[in-house]
Amino acid sequence: MSDAQMENAPSTETVAPPREAAAVPPTFDIDWWTTLMDPEFLKNPYPELKRIRELAPVHFDPGSGIYFVLGHKEFGLMAKTASMGRDTTYWANGWSSEENKANDPETYELFVDFQPQMINANPPDHRRMRGVFDKAFRPRDMMRYLPMIEDECRKLVETLPVGTPFNYMDAFGNPLPNRISLKLFDIPEEMEAPIGKWITDLSWLGNIVMTPEQKRNAKQSNLEFKQFVKEHLERLRANPGDGFIGMALAAAQDGTMDEEETLNNVVMLIAGSKTSLTLLGNGLLTLLKHPDQFEKLRADRSLMPRAIEEMLRFESGSAIIPRAGVEDFQCGDVTIPAGSLAIGLVGAINRDPARFDDPDTFDITRKPNHHSAFGGGPHICIGKALARMTTEVAFNALMDRFSGIELAGEAEWWTDRSDQRGLSTLPLKLTPA
Ligand code: HEM
Repeated sequence: MSDAQMENAPSTETVAPPREAAAVPPTFDIDWWTTLMDPEFLKNPYPELKRIRELAPVHFDPGSGIYFVLGHKEFGLMAKTASMGRDTTYWANGWSSEENKANDPETYELFVDFQPQMINANPPDHRRMRGVFDKAFRPRDMMRYLPMIEDECRKLVETLPVGTPFNYMDAFGNPLPNRISLKLFDIPEEMEAPIGKWITDLSWLGNIVMTPEQKRNAKQSNLEFKQFVKEHLERLRANPGDGFIGMALAAAQDGTMDEEETLNNVVMLIAGSKTSLTLLGNGLLTLLKHPDQFEKLRADRSLMPRAIEEMLRFESGSAIIPRAGVEDFQCGDVTIPAGSLAIGLVGAINRDPARFDDPDTFDITRKPNHHSAFGGGPHICIGKALARMTTEVAFNALMDRFSGIELAGEAEWWTDRSDQRGLSTLPLKLTPA
């Protein structure tokens, strides 16, 4: 962890659980924030996550007062219960607490500005906002976007160099989800660069530990992004169409969402699609590291949907999923008290041997595959059908066009964030079909 990040890491002074818990979990000698931000851990977190999960499925960190959930069953309980939600104003000593308002007003304001939207809301506000967009994200409704997604994939595939090494993340994995997002929200192509920057800056909000510079950038980008969305909605008001823009405008007009909710939800939907890049990168690298599975998939493309679920399980892009306690909640053997923050560690949950046979084996025919890469319960990722469709189209397009897809060097994982697991570099060499 850099010095600047250290400064902003959750306090290491011992924090008692917010209220007397019925069952306090045993604590082990784990320096959580050093572990979670350790570059070696971030390159390959699985052995350490396995060790910690074997100690207990739910841990309490007296240093930060945060609960960590590593068991599949325990995460499922926590994700589904109404006793825990994603509204982090319930986190008693968190970003939006009175204590933080006094100690760190900048961070307080940053999170307050970003707060009114479905991902940060509990019932009934969550359902009210999610309901505006939910139906458009059903798999069969997503089919209307299939030709557009195929077109964007084809255009990018055609630009990829043949026979010379290149970074697949720069050339394909990063730009594809952004371009699809622009099309979904009728945004002109020339906005690709500024929107890419806003999304990157905002993405750090999920990391819990942020440097002062990341906080400043996130605040500025949030302001600029919302201003752009406001003007964009205004421009399309006369001719909104029946897609995402039309839905947002209709909900703003009939009062289902107020202006801040409308702007923040649209920003989140555009930014949320960026997570697809982790699946495009992590999934392809995993295939390349398991050539027998890659061959099996090439030989039988009907395995693609199951292969994608296994990529999501085996190398999930979302590494942490938070919940804040509304009331005391019995999570397996542990009571998580009201006012606590609990964090699901997806890399451990998705490889829990209590749920998955041979969890460290990558098997594209695995069935059933109840992974938690998209979270769970009422907040389960709204964009999961879009992410799956994008990846299926992209991998089919790559395999159709190239008979050889080879690693041309060492892939590099992000080592500066613990909330998402993705690749900065995936060097490839392609041979045409
Ligand atoms: C591989 C790609 C993706 C992954 C791994 C992913 C992962 C997640 C996760 C873990 C959550 C939180 C669930 C929870 O708290 O239980 C989530 C929520 C969400 N995701 Fe995704 N996501 C992906 C793609 C997308 C796409 C393509 C979009 C937008 C079009 C999107 C928009 C959202 C939104 C708006 C939420 C909040 C839903 C709610 O609170 O009800 N995501 N996603």
